[in-house]
Amino acid sequence: MKFFIDTANLDEIKEASELGFLDGVTTNPTLLSREVERTGMDPNDVLKKICEMVEGPISAEVVSLEVDGMVKEAEKLSTIAKNICIKVPMTKNGVKATRTITEKETMVNMTLIFSVNQALLAAKAGATFVSPFIGRLDDIAHIGIDLVSDIMDVFENYAFPTEVIVASIRHPLHVVEAALIGAHIATIPFKVIEKMFKHPLTDIGIERFLADWKKIANK
Ligand code: G3P
Repeated sequence: MKFFIDTANLDEIKEASELGFLDGVTTNPTLLSREVERTGMDPNDVLKKICEMVEGPISAEVVSLEVDGMVKEAEKLSTIAKNICIKVPMTKNGVKATRTITEKETMVNMTLIFSVNQALLAAKAGATFVSPFIGRLDDIAHIGIDLVSDIMDVFENYAFPTEVIVASIRHPLHVVEAALIGAHIATIPFKVIEKMFKHPLTDIGIERFLADWKKIANK
C-alpha cells in the first residue's frame, strides 16, 4: 500500500518525508491556496518545491472547466517537474482532457469521484489514478469505503491499470478500512498521519519501562 500526503504545506511535507514512507503528494486548489496565503510564495514555486522534496507523483489540479483550458494548464504544470501528475475533475470535459493529457505520457489523477460509473469512465479514459472521496460520502450518510471496495472489484474484473487513491480521509479508521480492502493508495492529511502513531498503551508501556529502569539506574 502506498502512502501519499494530502497537503501543500511544505513544513508538513518535509516532516512526513523524513519518516521515510512517503510515496507521493496530493494537492487541490484549496490546499494550494492555503499554502500560498501562509508563505506568500507563487503557487508554481510551491509545487516545484514539493516535487524536489518527494520523488513520487505530485498531484496538481487544473482549474479550467473547458477541455482546451485543462490541456493547456496541464502542459504548463507538467513543465514544473517530471513527477507532476495532473489532477482533473470528473466531468465530460475532464474525461476528454484526460485522454489527451495521458497520450502525452503525463500522469492524470481523476478527482471528485463519487460513483463506480465515474471511476469506470476515468479508467476507460486512461487515467493513471482515480480519487474517490470517502469522507465527503460519509458526510452525507453514504459509506465511503464501500465505494472504494466496489471500484477495486470492477478494476480487478477488467485488469484496469488505473490505481485507486482513497481520498478525503478524515481519521485513522479510514486508513485501516482502505488497507483492509487492499486499496492501492491512501492520501492522508498530516494530522491523521500523526494520529496513526498513537496508542495510549504504547505511551503507558514506555513510561513504565523507563520508571523501572530508573530504579536500578543509580545503583
Ligand atoms: O484528497 C481530497 C481531499 O483534499 C478532500 O478532503 O476533507 O476536504 O473532503 P476533504
